[in-house]
Amino acid sequence: MDIVDIIKKQHQDIRALIQQTCGKEEYDAEERKQIIQLILTKLRVHAMIEEMVLFPRMEERPTARSAALEAWEYHTVATNIAKGLVQLSPADELWIPRWRVVKGVILIHIDAEENRVLSSLQKAFTQEEREDMGRKFIRAENAAIEKNK
Ligand SMILES: [Fe+2]
Ligand SMILES: [Fe+2]
Repeated sequence: MDIVDIIKKQHQDIRALIQQTCGKEEYDAEERKQIIQLILTKLRVHAMIEEMVLFPRMEERPTARSAALEAWEYHTVATNIAKGLVQLSPADELWIPRWRVVKGVILIHIDAEENRVLSSLQKAFTQEEREDMGRKFIRAENAAIEKNK
């Protein structure tokens, strides 16, 4: 499977989970915390595999390099602010405002990645290369799931 399709599908799943947190702000803090932990865990695996399988290859191609460097920047920012969120108790008054900021950064990154990373990937790599990256992505994901069991 083309890595572009795998990433788009995972982004859709993440967007759908984030959507579930909208309107949950008045709800039980424990329930909110569980959904957000699930989102952050899925994202961590997704981002880690992009960093392993995708960005280093893109950095080698002049037309894809800038998009890969931008994506690394987003990953760094998102990781740092997500750390600040998980350190808080969900009962803390800062928790919801902080989640809104984390969520905003994640959604902006997902859009930017689809606009610039995936489009430059399609231009800079052949279908065969993208399918090979797709196989590596799935293999790395299965290994990460296995490890977390
Ligand atoms: Fe990403
Ligand atoms: Fe992504």
